[in-house]
Amino acid sequence: MTTKLAIYGGTPVRNRPLPLPFPGASVYGEEEKRAALDVIGRQSPFRYYGADVAGKTKQFEIAFSERIGCGYALGVTSGTAALVVALKSLGIGPGDKVIVPANTFIATANAVVMAGAVPVFADIDDSLNINPNEIGRLAEADPSVKAVIAVPILGNPCEMDKVMEQAAKHKLKVIEDVAQSCGSRYKGMHSGAFGDMACFSLQMNKIITTGDGGIVVTNQAELYERAVRYHDQGFFRDKELFEGMAVADVPFAGQNFRMSEINGAIALEQLKKLDGIIAAMRAIKRRIKDGIRGVQGIAFRKINDEEGDAGNALVMMLPDAQIASRFHDVLNAEGITASVLYEGRPVYMHEHVMQRRTADRDGFPFNFFTDFPSYKVGMCPDAEQLLPRCIAISLSPVFQESDADDVIKGILKAAEGLLSEGDQGQVHH
Ligand SMILES: Cc1ncc(COP(=O)(O)O)c(C=O)c1O
Repeated sequence: MTTKLAIYGGTPVRNRPLPLPFPGASVYGEEEKRAALDVIGRQSPFRYYGADVAGKTKQFEIAFSERIGCGYALGVTSGTAALVVALKSLGIGPGDKVIVPANTFIATANAVVMAGAVPVFADIDDSLNINPNEIGRLAEADPSVKAVIAVPILGNPCEMDKVMEQAAKHKLKVIEDVAQSCGSRYKGMHSGAFGDMACFSLQMNKIITTGDGGIVVTNQAELYERAVRYHDQGFFRDKELFEGMAVADVPFAGQNFRMSEINGAIALEQLKKLDGIIAAMRAIKRRIKDGIRGVQGIAFRKINDEEGDAGNALVMMLPDAQIASRFHDVLNAEGITASVLYEGRPVYMHEHVMQRRTADRDGFPFNFFTDFPSYKVGMCPDAEQLLPRCIAISLSPVFQESDADDVIKGILKAAEGLLSEGDQGQVHH
């Protein structure tokens, strides 16, 4: 039997698209609808006052802090806002540098700049997350480095014991940017429960979503107070809820990053579904991995804690960038939607990062340093080498086993076809 690859005109493995890569949104249902309508019915979409405020945002914060295992959680408007709030709560600003992993979404680096500090980039390892050894190297090279942001990428927890050890050694603050990995765990503890502060996103393609939204968590009362004030024009409106809490009670200028009651109500319903979403994605991921294990030329990224993987993406590593790019094209032609992770580029390759271009005058905040070294290609060689080799398939809780089986078929067909490219894609059985 001969199977021609779809890219050469053969029949694709799949004609219908795979389920969309929106885990939380794909399980929206009556619960979210009722929750949003209840807020509208009360004519009270603002968390702090209104005709009949249900307190949904507060309830969500309490439920989320309990779930993650942190003392305090604060709903905000986005994951990016959460990062800015965390940085400002920790007192990071002009004159400070913050370690950002080379592999992350641009928001992590942008937020550092929005806080008035500048990013320095850490290389990654085979997990595609920060290489903890980089923390010491960067901190020792520069006393302006004050904090590190650890980013568990696509469900894969960071090695937080090593990150925390390195950070403690060099007296750095730790922020976890858990935007992509809500519900992931490392050694039994939730991502987000390790650092001084952690940030989550509720944006559309996240594991739970309100369309847009974010959460900041911390165990430290004084950081929580600063976060609340920063996100609400310097106010701390419901401090009476925190009896016995050591409150500094000193207002300062802040922003408006408040979460609305409609978002809070939907977030509360999504949180109830988090375990189910993760269990379903993990089962699908396991099925696909088992189905393609041992295929020559396909490796998987290292998962730092298999038990704690949120399961929202399957990431395959191909032998080199050229094969990966070809594999990507072949898979997509078979109807298996796959992407090259971040177009194969570390985050510092974004033009505005390389050029240190900001919206501010005179290159602020980079102009705070007279001797700021240029960012350059080659800064993080492992990221530059690994990322173009990585192909990701996004999973969601509504994948059926038949969808997983199509993914397996597509990957096996692509792998076999690619190995016989000289054959014009004819796969011989
Ligand atoms: C790692 C990471 N950090 C931060 C963000 C920003 O979150 P948001 O889009 O909610 O601002 C995202 C995703 O969008 C992300 O993937």
